[in-house]
Amino acid sequence: MNKISIENLTLHYSDDKESLQNISLGIPANAITVIFGPAGGGKSTLLRVLNRLNDLTDVSFMKGRVLIDNEDILDPRLDVITLRRRVGMVFARPVVLPMSIRQNLTYGLEVAGEKDKSKMDAAIERSLIQAALWDEVRDRLNDPAAALSGGQQQRLCLARVLALEPEVILLDEPTSGLDPISTGKVEESLQELKKTYTIVLVPHSVQQAARAADYAAFFLQGELVEFAQGDKLFTNPTDKRTQDYVEGRFG
Ligand SMILES: Nc1ncnc2c1ncn2[C@@H]1O[C@H](COP(=O)(O)OP(=O)(O)OP(=O)(O)O)[C@@H](O)[C@H]1O
Ligand SMILES: [Mg+2]
Repeated sequence: MNKISIENLTLHYSDDKESLQNISLGIPANAITVIFGPAGGGKSTLLRVLNRLNDLTDVSFMKGRVLIDNEDILDPRLDVITLRRRVGMVFARPVVLPMSIRQNLTYGLEVAGEKDKSKMDAAIERSLIQAALWDEVRDRLNDPAAALSGGQQQRLCLARVLALEPEVILLDEPTSGLDPISTGKVEESLQELKKTYTIVLVPHSVQQAARAADYAAFFLQGELVEFAQGDKLFTNPTDKRTQDYVEGRFG
C-alpha cells in the first residue's frame, strides 16, 4: 500500500527553471524508497515538498497533489506543525541543539506538551536504541550533545526525529559526513526502522542506493526517469539513462 502518493507535481523556483517536472510517484509504507541521481536533479526539493519545508524557500510555481494517507498535504489550510511531526526529516549535516544529549531528545516532546517524566525516559531509550546509539551514550545522557563524534551526532539527530514517533522519515544524504562504520550502523538501523515507518532516503552514493533500496526512483534534471523495485532497477533498468548512471558512466 502507498503511504504517499505524488500526483503530477511540478515545481519552479524563482528562476523559472522546472526543478520538478510533472512527477507522479507512489511511495509504499514500511519500505525504504531511495531517491537518487546526479546533483541538481531535484531530490532535496522533492523531500522538502513532503514536509512543506519548501514553504520557506523561493518557490514561484507549484502544481499537483501530494497525498499522505489520502490527505492533500499541499492544502494551504493544513497545519504544517502537525505535518512535520508526522513527517520527520534528517539532514546531511547533523545539527544538534546546544544542550545535553537527553535534552536534545526531550525538547521536541516538551514543545509538543509532554510533561510525564517516565514517558520521556521511555522515549529517550526507545529512540536511542532505534538509532543504534543507546549503548554508546546510555551512561552520559547529561553530557553536551556537541561532545559526540560526527557519526554519533548524526544518529542523535535521527533519534530526535524518532522520539516524536513520526510516520514518515525523510533522510537527505544522512551519512555523507560519516565514516564507513557509522554509515553501516545507520544503514542497519534503517533496515530495522522500515518495519514501523515509511522511509524516503536520498543516498550519498549509488552503492548505498543499491544496498538500501526496496524501491528506487532515478531523478535527472527534475525528471523522474524510472521507478522500480530496487533489485530490478539496479540490475536490469529499463531506461538507458538509468543504466548509464548506475554503471557509473556519468554523474
Ligand atoms: N532554494 C532554492 N532556490 C532556487 N533554486 C533552487 C533552490 N533549491 C534548489 N534549487 C534548484 O533546483 C534544482 C534542484 O535542486 P535540488 O537541491 O533539489 O537537487 P538535488 O538533486 O538535491 O542535488 P544535490 O545532489 O546536489 O543535493 C537545482 O537546479 C537547484 O539549483
Ligand atoms: Mg540535495
